[in-house]
Amino acid sequence: MRSYRIASIPGDGIGPEVISAGEKVLQVVAERDGGFKLTFDRFDWGSDYYKTHGIMMPKDGRDQIKAHDAIFFGAVGAPDVPDHITLWGLRLAICQPFDQYANVRPTRVLPGITSPLRHVKDKELDWVIVRENSEGEYAGVGGRVHQGFPEEVATDVTMFTRTGVERIIRFAFELARSRPRKKLTIVTKSNAQRHGMVMWDDIALEVAAKYPDVTWDKMLVDAMTMRMVIKPETLDTIVATNLHADILSDLAAALAGSLGIAPTANLNPERKFPSMFEPIHGSAFDIVGKGIANPIGTFWTSVMMLEHLGQPKAAQRMMRAIERVTADVKFHTPDLGGKARTDDVTEAVCATLQGDNT
Ligand code: IPM
Ligand code: MG
Repeated sequence: MRSYRIASIPGDGIGPEVISAGEKVLQVVAERDGGFKLTFDRFDWGSDYYKTHGIMMPKDGRDQIKAHDAIFFGAVGAPDVPDHITLWGLRLAICQPFDQYANVRPTRVLPGITSPLRHVKDKELDWVIVRENSEGEYAGVGGRVHQGFPEEVATDVTMFTRTGVERIIRFAFELARSRPRKKLTIVTKSNAQRHGMVMWDDIALEVAAKYPDVTWDKMLVDAMTMRMVIKPETLDTIVATNLHADILSDLAAALAGSLGIAPTANLNPERKFPSMFEPIHGSAFDIVGKGIANPIGTFWTSVMMLEHLGQPKAAQRMMRAIERVTADVKFHTPDLGGKARTDDVTEAVCATLQGDNT
């Protein structure tokens, strides 16, 4: 029997609550499938670890997880630790060296959930955002001098490499090709940013020539926000830079009904390193310990993890169970306007999986 080792990093805030829920449903889907086994190794890295050790994860942290089949990540960020420390010390410290350059963020209005867009019917909002995840505005290049003095200067340099841009655009074309509509929108801001973004446009043209079966178009990021709201049905697969896609994916999650549902996969498509799966929502300290975190984002990211591990049947079964549960408003957590608790949703998904005889 195929056996997978998963490195669980629950992290901060509601991370541990949703990761526990995720491990539970994953075990049930594995048992139900019968063809594979999952073992979870837990790592207590994050802001509490930082408060004791002065670092977000041990020096050899990446060595400890590099042989795992996947990383199951909760959230990072705490009110009393600066965000740039938590982000660079853990999440980016894993994503960048493990070359998880493709960040994939599917968005759909799941059954039972209402989009804030009045005119949108269920099937009309079905997108996958591909976020460049290794460079761009998150390259970490820059500096700050003369701190606190009137002549203080700070820079954040956006870096785009031909290799980095080419591989993400190719990835996006492949993904678009694998979806029924075979449609890709490439987002830039090449009117204002006249070097890197113009290179994106040039490379898009070159790569597109190899995908004649994919229909594609170009959008400026500001106009893209309008199109997402006004004509969501005209979009399918979307690719954008690290920062642009970060912003667009929050908009996408909100338009789909809640940030609590949205999943993400940080992929190393060449599989030289493990890929990392996480809900988008973050640590949400305002609801920590209340037992009301929405676990759906984590369940959906588990679906992506199962697909990546090569278990498409289990992934489909899990997605079906999620959709059956969201269809019932009784299982909506407060972010969706309901009263359900994390445990209610988790048990409902487990029970649906156990009762699924297909
Ligand atoms: C995301 C988040 C992170 C990001 C934060 C937590 C730094 O917003 O995954 O979208 O900007 O990458
Ligand atoms: Mg974000």
